[in-house]
Amino acid sequence: MGEPVRSDRAGELRASDAGREVRLAGWVASRRDLGGVVFLVLRDASGEAQVVVDPQAVPAAGEVAKDLRDEYCITVSGTVRPRPDGTVNPGMATGEIEVAAADVRVLSPSDPLPFQIDDRADVDEVRRLQWRYLDLRRPRMKANLIARSRAVSAMRRSMEGQGFLEVETPTLIRSTPEGARDMLVPSRLRAGSFYALPQSPQLFKQLLMIGGVERYYQIARCYRDEDFRSDRQLEFAQLDLEGAFWGRDDVLATLESVMVEVARELRGVELSTPFPRLTYREAMARYGTDKPDVRLGMEICDLGGAFAGTGFKAFAGVLDAGGVVRGINAGPLGMGRSGLDALGDLAKGAGAKGLAWLVVEDDGSLRSPIAKFLGDDEAAAVKEAMGAGPGDTLLLVADTPEIAAPALDRVRRHLGEPDDPDELAFLWVIDFPVFEKAPDGSLAPAHHPFTSPHDVDEMGSDPEHALSHAYDLVLNGSELGSGSVRIHDPEVQRRVFEILGISDEEAESRFGWFLEALRYGTPPHAGFAVGIDRLVSILQGEPNIREVIPFPKTQTGADPLTKAPTPVAADQLAELGLEAAGEDADGVAGGDGAAGEGGGASAG
Ligand code: AMO
Ligand code: AMP
Repeated sequence: MGEPVRSDRAGELRASDAGREVRLAGWVASRRDLGGVVFLVLRDASGEAQVVVDPQAVPAAGEVAKDLRDEYCITVSGTVRPRPDGTVNPGMATGEIEVAAADVRVLSPSDPLPFQIDDRADVDEVRRLQWRYLDLRRPRMKANLIARSRAVSAMRRSMEGQGFLEVETPTLIRSTPEGARDMLVPSRLRAGSFYALPQSPQLFKQLLMIGGVERYYQIARCYRDEDFRSDRQLEFAQLDLEGAFWGRDDVLATLESVMVEVARELRGVELSTPFPRLTYREAMARYGTDKPDVRLGMEICDLGGAFAGTGFKAFAGVLDAGGVVRGINAGPLGMGRSGLDALGDLAKGAGAKGLAWLVVEDDGSLRSPIAKFLGDDEAAAVKEAMGAGPGDTLLLVADTPEIAAPALDRVRRHLGEPDDPDELAFLWVIDFPVFEKAPDGSLAPAHHPFTSPHDVDEMGSDPEHALSHAYDLVLNGSELGSGSVRIHDPEVQRRVFEILGISDEEAESRFGWFLEALRYGTPPHAGFAVGIDRLVSILQGEPNIREVIPFPKTQTGADPLTKAPTPVAADQLAELGLEAAGEDADGVAGGDGAAGEGGGASAG
């Protein structure tokens, strides 16, 4: 069988091909039998074309066509001809032509389908993932795969154009702290010891800077054993980069170029640069979050001045205790009592004690459960501070800043809608704190412990307020990526560990190899990592990153297709010096592998 399976791609046929003999190959996307004449839509990766099989003219092909079913893989030989008048389909790229079949052959039949291969069919996600190879035939998924490939290729183009070297770092490594749990891989040759899969290439890229690479990038696979959300997976991809003799503004400018290239490729738009910059403090004050969606308007106002000396006890108590009163002008909401109560529940869900609402009446007076507590001057000051006019609804929270901010952020995200849903609102949030307080009061790195503080002495004396050279890239209210200027001085690195409560001995045993490397002429360096799955899902208008990942895991970390994770055989564990614990202790590889039932394993 020396002859090629096909001569042309179905989706590329045009009116100018009329009269040509072609041989197509692909899948039966649909089949209609109109009184003997069979109309097929044949789909391949390039698109679709209509095929007409007339059993009167070609009896043998007619016989084959009679038995075709959806998603049979076939070849068709025939002649391209213009469609008859009145049957041109302007909604189809190949809608001006059809292929009159001379020969139809089945390459491979298909079992009956678990679901229709059609974007309109609403299919449960677990079913989609169980038959992902069929799901990938749907136009939406095909478009997402193409978009992802083009995004990555645009990134590579941009990085190469800016003089970066692509370097691969290992994925069986010693643990790198990024704040999540490590995924561990047992070592057979050193039973009882484990590799970690990288949460990111962080320390290796810093070693590359010490190694003189100066401009590094990588499309890096990262692994984090963290709880699932719509924008998180156990494994994901980063555009990871680092530069020596670099500062923050170099990093930001480089990434702006990358984003311009990617947005041009996927959206056909020209982003304007530089992107707006907000400090962390500004972002928290104006939007209540470090990843603001600035398209929504409704900035947060501080009303401490307006309510100074208020007679409303709930607010007075909060202000006296050093708290804040803040609010958003939600504009003409026209919401009734129950709607406003539901907003209150949202705020309470974020920890607030309440959400006070005030509606400005046509005569300028305020309608509100708290109106009776407010003096005229107070009411006027609130309206003034919030730029409020008749019809506007004002929503207020009085609490500590740590509670008021997320509560108002939640209400704002719930109410806000961008004027233009296609708008891409990129922005930088800069000057993050060095540390954040964990719920138990201990300090944790806000970014990661290799981030350079603004001022080492301030970091020592007032760690809770000390700022760092860390920055995030935000797109439409999502964190796309993070980076920082790194510590290149081993003494500063030691002090960060000290403030984090990591003793010299512990630092030496966990990071001694890295601290030593810092002592061999480390250049100042800085870098960044962009979450590729998040970027592509937002640019594709997808609600979650699973839609742009070819074979993602479900919310419980399972793969419904292969049934990973599965228990493994006892002898395989024994070889690794491990012993299974838990229900499935004597589970066997290839068992039914229901998600997460593998039980634990302990080093022996
Ligand atoms: P960070 O931890 O902020 O920084 O990660 C960078 C970006 O990676 C994406 N991301 C994820 N995407 C999907 N699923 C996940 N579980 C997940 N976790 C993170 C996000 C995030 O913004 N080494 C540093 C970067 C640096 O300092 O250079 C780092 O990894 O889009
Ligand atoms: P109360 O006097 O507690 O019945 O509250 C009157 C109104 O003020 C209700 O609508 C509450 O939701 C609201 N409220 C009470 N405490 C707060 C607070 N700390 N922040 C915002 N609104 C509050």
